[in-house]
Amino acid sequence: MNSLGKLRDKRVLISGGANGAGAASTRLFAAEGAHVAIVDKDRAAGELLCKELTAKGADVIFFAADVSIPEEVDRSVRAVYDAFGRIDVLFNHAGIIIVKPFLDFSLEEWNEMMDNNAKSAFLLSRAVLPGMLEQGKGVLVFTSTTGVRAATHLESLYSASKAAMHSLSRSIAVEYRDRGIRANALCPSFVRTRHGENEIEQLRDYGILASERDVNMMQGRICEPEEVAEVALFLASDASSFVNGAEIFVDNTFTAV
Ligand SMILES: NC(=O)c1ccc[n+]([C@@H]2O[C@H](COP(=O)([O-])OP(=O)(O)OC[C@H]3O[C@@H](n4cnc5c(N)ncnc54)[C@H](O)[C@@H]3O)[C@@H](O)[C@H]2O)c1
Repeated sequence: MNSLGKLRDKRVLISGGANGAGAASTRLFAAEGAHVAIVDKDRAAGELLCKELTAKGADVIFFAADVSIPEEVDRSVRAVYDAFGRIDVLFNHAGIIIVKPFLDFSLEEWNEMMDNNAKSAFLLSRAVLPGMLEQGKGVLVFTSTTGVRAATHLESLYSASKAAMHSLSRSIAVEYRDRGIRANALCPSFVRTRHGENEIEQLRDYGILASERDVNMMQGRICEPEEVAEVALFLASDASSFVNGAEIFVDNTFTAV
């Protein structure tokens, strides 16, 4: 793997790094010289990706954990520290979506969205920040969504939960800027991943603005996971050293119109 890359020697934790845009980031970050720890609840996919990249000479490790559960976050973060000695970059990418009319949502579903999309980012950030503050440097990247700016039909709880993690990113940046911490949100529109395809399929079932023509009208075409990974790489690397508390929309005009 690349010993002169943009993330050379960086120790990175990627939640949700086993599939989709998280996996594309795992691949890209490893190719750019990072040591990558994937923390994901999908054990089969995580182990497979880890095996594939390790065979190519990358330093990639996998820990199975549900990052909405405090004990599992603490256990996996401890394991990453044991393996890597430090964490330079946390990519809060894990997340889920439920598509439904607002009035059909239950309190359990509200909790599920908040737990997976907001609490998980809180738990992970809280677990890695002390180490970053001690070393005087650290980067957090949060996968938010265009939904925080332009509401999509039937995604009220998803957008609300992402708005919470989005806001967390900005607040951490403001609170810890002068102690060497950067935190930024990246906001994709529809991406060709299990999450994105499932989202589009559900919207289509409801007859909502998600035909191929609609998607093309809103964002030209579907976004590829690698295009999200490239922006995550920029935010994770020193190339974005003066970008802090920002939001970058990865949406090919979705929110610009
Ligand atoms: N795909 C899109 O269209 C799109 C658009 C905007 C934002 N996003 C965001 O991207 C992220 C989803 O990633 P993707 O599109 O690469 O989809 P994906 O479904 O391919 O990958 C999501 C990964 O997160 C993991 N995960 C989910 N909840 C978890 C938990 N509680 N603990 C541990 N692992 C968990 C899954 O196992 C999976 O590996 C989410 O945060 C989502 O909100 C996706």
